[in-house]
Amino acid sequence: MEFKNRASFAHKVGYAVRHPHRISSYAQRWARDSWFRMTTGDHVSYYRAVMRSDTARNPEQAVGSASHDRWLALGKMQYDYLLSHGLKPEHRLLEIGCGNLRAGWRFIEYLDTGNYYGIDISPDILFAAQDVLRRHGLQHKIPHLTPVRGLDFSFLPRGHFDVVHAHSVFSHSPLQVIEECLANVGAVLAPGGFFDFTFDRTTGPEHQVLREDFYYRTETLTALARRYGLEAVFMDDWEALPHRQSKLRVSLPHRTV
Ligand SMILES: C[S@@+](CC[C@H](N)C(=O)[O-])C[C@H]1O[C@@H](n2cnc3c(N)ncnc32)[C@H](O)[C@@H]1O
Repeated sequence: MEFKNRASFAHKVGYAVRHPHRISSYAQRWARDSWFRMTTGDHVSYYRAVMRSDTARNPEQAVGSASHDRWLALGKMQYDYLLSHGLKPEHRLLEIGCGNLRAGWRFIEYLDTGNYYGIDISPDILFAAQDVLRRHGLQHKIPHLTPVRGLDFSFLPRGHFDVVHAHSVFSHSPLQVIEECLANVGAVLAPGGFFDFTFDRTTGPEHQVLREDFYYRTETLTALARRYGLEAVFMDDWEALPHRQSKLRVSLPHRTV
């Protein structure tokens, strides 16, 4: 696979020449993002503003799906993957950046009542998530849908979740946001539990585009996980799926007495 530096001037010029019809939408996005950067404080506030603007237009596109069919397919891919890795109805699942429940509604339907916990920095996308819940008639499963300011998980019970899942969240996160998550996720994992997350992988220099899309080397993230006492495994079987991000699984090391 070829890894591009999308932040480089050469890439931008080449991309513009190949896709001239996208220049005006890129310019609009650049102008909007510049305004949000000037008028918000930290990254989370900035990205919350991005999500508010995107969700107002179309919640399914706001979580990265160009069509309803793609929204369904991307959710099913996440769901099938976790089931093939042993997710059981009695497990307790925390979804970080649950968006409008693209995968979440399937997890909610499958898991025992009350065992799904979705968190997101964007209240607007959580309102859209409530619409999805209603559409799928899943009110009786009593899922938790909670807005958060950050990822310290201090309001959640310790050692509680068998699976923590974050899809297309770290692809929109600077390293300090990922670090906050990795520093704290171990405390909410149940014994034997794991945390799966996707990320935009590069083998070249790490870079970001418009502060919306971030590209990391695998070693950066595995080293960060290790710093917080977590083991990290690159999920090779995820690479076979039709998705451009890669996946890491982190867990607490098994202790022998
Ligand atoms: C591309 S969407 C993916 C949503 C969902 N995971 C899915 O696959 O449909 C990214 C989501 O992560 C949320 N998000 C971004 N940064 C976050 C953070 N630091 N903590 C929690 N949620 C975050 C966004 O608000 C958005 O809903």
